[in-house]
Amino acid sequence: MDTRTPLIAGNWKMFKTPREAARDAAALAKLVQGVEGVDVMIAPTFVCLAPVAQALEGSSIALGGQNLHWEKEGAFTGEISAPMLKAVGCSHVIIGHSERRQYFGETDQTVNQKIRAALDVGLKAVLCVGETEEERDQEKTLNVLDKQLKGGLKDISFSSGDDTLVVAYEPVWAIGTGKTATDEQAQEAHAYIRQVLAVLLGKELAKSTRILYGGSVKPANIAQLMSKPDIDGGLVGGASLDPETFSQIVRFQ
Ligand code: 13P
Repeated sequence: MDTRTPLIAGNWKMFKTPREAARDAAALAKLVQGVEGVDVMIAPTFVCLAPVAQALEGSSIALGGQNLHWEKEGAFTGEISAPMLKAVGCSHVIIGHSERRQYFGETDQTVNQKIRAALDVGLKAVLCVGETEEERDQEKTLNVLDKQLKGGLKDISFSSGDDTLVVAYEPVWAIGTGKTATDEQAQEAHAYIRQVLAVLLGKELAKSTRILYGGSVKPANIAQLMSKPDIDGGLVGGASLDPETFSQIVRFQ
């Protein structure tokens, strides 16, 4: 849909020191300078946000957090809040990544609280959803997507024409495995997600919301994925760590 500007986002997960992150962000900014018609975002670790924000000054690359706590402040050792992300220069935050669901007890309910906290301070929420291999084998993919979207977005309203919500479809079995979903598999899931969004948020918003694919996105497969009508970008892990490789993904068209 031509109203949706593609978004290529890099999730740096738990990689890079602040010095390495700042160096790579600066290199990436140079490599993607002048690229038009695509939005770019990178999400480094919390300790790298400030130096990366500085390295990105003057570039159009957006900065994102990888997680947040839903309270604004308080006695929550080890946590970071939405206003803090905002203050350090973030415009986006990834919420409900499967690694957080799998290893850190994230549930649809905490995801819901986190999305609210992000929206409260004007951060764009990148809501991650996706099925495990077992769930796919049992043909539960669409049920899982349904449950995660309904739980994550429960009772949240968005204004129309809003781009504060981004959904990332990341099949767990495709993350870091080199097994990419085929473009048909991804398109089927994306079309379903848009259908659920239409019920939850209305047709207009469902149409304008970007749905990213994540799971072993590489320079070699991005163009094919992007050729599908409901795939509006990528959430890239491993291949986002090297600025040159990531810039090739950004320049997919
Ligand atoms: P990979 O690109 O390494 O498979 O990771 C995908 C991902 O989890 C992005 O959030």
